[in-house]
Formats: sequence, structure tokens, C-alpha cells
Amino acid sequence: MEKAEQVRVIRGLMHFLDTDTNVDAGCQVRNPVSSYTSAAMAKDEWHHFFRTAPQVVGLSGDLPDAGSFFTTRDFGKPVLCTRDKQGKFHAFLNVCRHRGTLLEDDERGRRNVFTCPFHAWGYSNQGDLVAVPKEEHFGPVDRSCHSLVPLPSEERYGLLWVHPETGADLDVDACLGELAPELASWELERFRFSGNTTYEHPMNWKLAVDTFGETYHFNVLHRETLANDVYGNVQMYDTYERNHRMMLCLRNIDALRELPEDDWEILQASIPVYYLFPNVQLILGVGGPTLVRIYPHGEDPHHSYSRISFYLDPDIESLAMDPARRERYEQVQERMQGFASVIEQEDYTAAASSHLGIVSGAQEYLVFGRNEPALHHYHNTYRAALGLPPLDVISN
Ligand code: FES
Ligand SMILES: [Fe+2]
Repeated sequence: MEKAEQVRVIRGLMHFLDTDTNVDAGCQVRNPVSSYTSAAMAKDEWHHFFRTAPQVVGLSGDLPDAGSFFTTRDFGKPVLCTRDKQGKFHAFLNVCRHRGTLLEDDERGRRNVFTCPFHAWGYSNQGDLVAVPKEEHFGPVDRSCHSLVPLPSEERYGLLWVHPETGADLDVDACLGELAPELASWELERFRFSGNTTYEHPMNWKLAVDTFGETYHFNVLHRETLANDVYGNVQMYDTYERNHRMMLCLRNIDALRELPEDDWEILQASIPVYYLFPNVQLILGVGGPTLVRIYPHGEDPHHSYSRISFYLDPDIESLAMDPARRERYEQVQERMQGFASVIEQEDYTAAASSHLGIVSGAQEYLVFGRNEPALHHYHNTYRAALGLPPLDVISN
């Protein structure tokens, strides 16, 4: 993040604290509860946002070395992601060209050749068919026509992108818009994958997204946890076309008041939370980023899950080898895991409770307040993408 922007954000947060004010969306809006329960809408979302749109599948650190791979089926197709010996990122349909068996079962690992479990056809991590056992019995196989089917893939700004449709146009800069230079400035490609977890939730996937959309709840829901480090109901907020950025306010911001602005560093004062349309939250912290990807279970409006991946600053990772400084490494790891457990035990528990309340039929709409602009933006953005009108403004 540019220095001038860091200072603008920190000054803005200090101003909100000093004046007991917060970011203001300018109005309240109503979100119909059918957004979370409609089978027709869930079907449209699955089609438009997951099956036929570019997907963030991880950070560069998910494929740390030549030969690294991971697999995913999160957007409805089996996908194999690899890094070849030139360091290039590839994505393929994870499907053997002989009889269609899923080629690789493991979630992640290292392999230069992927061997099909059915008859042992082998493929390189560039997708080439390199082995056909007993070809003298099977008959000749034209290697050039039986490579793995490639999907459009790109590694940009430290993010790994895949388009689920073969031959589709994958325009990462169009996805990121004005946010691209700022994401580039974080040099996300340098962080090392350090672990992941998956949370299943009995709720609409957008309720999970909503939990990242305001800090109004911090002093209540997180009073014993996050609120120890973060001021509730204070944030700077900016939109970048379909994406947005919330800047949370660390209590440590007060220590910066004694320092000249030249010495201010944004991660000492704030936790940046980037939302990438439609389902990704990227959270920056001093130890490294956390990537949260939220998915519906296909067309089911009532069930979803979150993939949460942690990445470490290599400088902090190196502390693990130094017995004298290992404690610092463990602190950072603990903080990241603690953050994930707050998401599961507090945010997602509250959101699943909302889902129960929503399906009860108690009300026709939910209310998003003036201090919750990210919720206004997110819901209006995906509604526009589905051809729906914007949320009703409440006049008061
Ligand atoms: S299905 Fe893969 S080798 Fe036969
Ligand atoms: Fe929360």
C-alpha cells in the first residue's frame, strides 16, 4: 500500500476514534430474506459466480516449488493445479483421458508425473501424456490428442486464478480493476503456505461473506477475543468496482500518535480486509495473509463451507529454526489459528443462527445500517450481476 494511502487511512481511523464517528454509507437498506433462501437465486449464483467465472484458487505459496500441485472441486469441476519445472502455473481438468477417472486424489503434494489409479496412464505436470502401460497390447495412443485438458490459468500479483471453462477468457486485471496496483504492492507471492482448514456451515454462503462486512459486531460478539486487539465499530472503507477494502482499527494505533507520520506503518495500526468478488476475503496481518474462500454446496441455498488458508512471512518462518526466537514464530502461528477459530466459533455460529432465523419466516427483510457500507456494496454488486434491482433504501 502506498505510503500516502497508509497515512490517509491511519489519519481517518484516528479521526473516527477522536470524534466517536464511523464510516457512513449515507442510508440504511433492506435486504430481502429470499436472498438467502431462494432456490432459483442459488441456482443462478452457482452458474454465474462459480461455474462460469474466474476463480481465485490460492496464493503463489500454495505451489511453493517446481513439482508442487493441489486439487480442488470447489466450483463444480475437478481441477488439478501444478507448477512445472520452469516454475509456470498450470490448471487442468483432473480427468484421465483414457476412461475419465479422476487422476489425482490427494489434496496437495509434489509430483512430476501423475499416474492414473485405474490403468496407470501417466501425465507430466505440464499435462502431457507420458506413459501408456502395455501399449503394445492396448494399441497405439496418439499422445498429441490425449493430454490433460487445460483450463485458463494465470498467476498474477501472487494470486492463482483459474477459469472453470476451457477456452474462456481469463482477464485478471478486469477482475481486480483499480485494486490491482495495491494488491501488487503487498508482494503476496513471497508468503509461504503454512496450513489450511475447512469449515462447513449450515447456512447460505452469503451469510458467511456478510460476517466480514462490518465491525459493528466486534464489541459484542468478539468482546472476549478480537475486541482485545481491535476497536469495534470503527473502519475506513473503500470500493474498487466490484471489490472492496475494509481497514479495521487496531488498538495499537494509539501508539502511533507519538510517532512522526514517516514512521507510521499500516499493519501496526490496521488489519486490511480485501473482498474480491464474489467469494474471497484476503486478510493481511504482520505474520502474513489469510485467504478465506467461501463456497455454496452447488445450488443448495442452505449449506456452504469456507476454505481458510494461512501463509507466513518467510522472515517469520525462519525464526522457527532459531531456538532463541522460536517463541515469536509460535506467537504468530497461534494468532493466525486463533483468528480462524474466532471465525468459526463466533462469526459463523452467529451467521448460522441468522440462517435459522431467516428461514423461520419471522421477517421479510434484514436491515443493513449506515455503518455497514460493505454489506450495501456487496449485496448490490452481486444483485447487479444477476440482473436484480439494488436494495431498497429505507428513508428515515
Ligand atoms: S482411466 Fe486412467 S488409465 Fe484408464
Ligand atoms: Fe466477526
